[in-house]
Amino acid sequence: MLEGPIILAVESSCDETAAAVVAGQQVRASVVASQVAVHAKFGGVVPELASRHHLTAVVPVVEEALAAAKIGWGELDGLAVTAGPGLIGALLVGVQFMQGAALATGLPLVGVHHMEGHLLSPFLGDGKQEAREFGPHLALSVSGGHSELVLVEGLGRYRVLGNTRDDAAGEAFDKVAKMLGLGYPGGPVIDRLAEEGDPEAVNFPRAMLDRPSLEFSFSGLKTAVAVHLQQHGQPTSREALADLCASVQAAIVEVLVAKTRRARREHRCKTVTVVGGVSANRGLRAAMAAAAEKDRFQLFTPALRYCGDNAAMIGAAASLRMRDGARSGVRVFASGAIDEPREAS
Ligand code: KG4
Ligand code: ZN
Repeated sequence: MLEGPIILAVESSCDETAAAVVAGQQVRASVVASQVAVHAKFGGVVPELASRHHLTAVVPVVEEALAAAKIGWGELDGLAVTAGPGLIGALLVGVQFMQGAALATGLPLVGVHHMEGHLLSPFLGDGKQEAREFGPHLALSVSGGHSELVLVEGLGRYRVLGNTRDDAAGEAFDKVAKMLGLGYPGGPVIDRLAEEGDPEAVNFPRAMLDRPSLEFSFSGLKTAVAVHLQQHGQPTSREALADLCASVQAAIVEVLVAKTRRARREHRCKTVTVVGGVSANRGLRAAMAAAAEKDRFQLFTPALRYCGDNAAMIGAAASLRMRDGARSGVRVFASGAIDEPREAS
């Protein structure tokens, strides 16, 4: 069943202020106000600035989502907000706004784990795509803060099979981009330049590939790029820059795909998803599609509009939980894996 209670959701865990109206996995409106321009000049997210911008953006973004969905507060069945993990000051803006809304309307408010939202992102439906049944699968969850393989048995039943020991995949993209003076966030820029380059130009390390574990490590790649730049200097032509980007991307993608294939074989999953900001990466999508064809598994990736942070995925998780009986409860947390027991207060 893809329908569910009508939910207004807010997401403010990092640098996007987002609001959405959903009914189950059906998105009626999704609005994202990005703060990328605010943080770009600092080369990364400045937590204090993020909180301040959420504060000014949250009301207009919520109003825009309600207007786009053509729905009033009185027609909602419930409210949802990202409870964590994320920047505490940023999370608190969304949570306190929604607690106020819950108090004023009497609607139940459900707190959602940000990564559970990402897990739902390939299953969302809207005017442009059909919703898909959220069934058992293996998820590769790759964003600025996470790189993990998650065995999804059903809603709320998650097991982390492997995590990163140091940097997340998105962080690796961002840090390498910073070294190359490509600005923040670096993932999309490296993705674009990699299209023109030769992925075999530089042979960067594929960390942990030879080990049977399902863990990742990306900090060595960052060091390898730094050493390469020390030895050869910054690339002086667009071609050399593109070659470097293609080589870095290939090193990240090869490890992600190899570990996902291994996990899928070991756990005999018929369906695989790739979620999180890095799931927008064209190289990763292409390599994963090739693996799906070779190993004969079903691959679901989110539409590009749901790869990065958004509130539709948070609303969908809450709507399905509410349909299953969840009621009010939000406890804010800065960190914590998706399979950690966590009670609502
Ligand atoms: O999921 P997300 O929007 O926020 C977090 O929860 O972290 O992910 C943001 C991350 C950033 O590190 C960004 O560089 C990366 O996703 N990213 C990409 C691409 N688009 C965004 N990485 C590689 N290729 C892309 N096309
Ligand atoms: Zn995210």
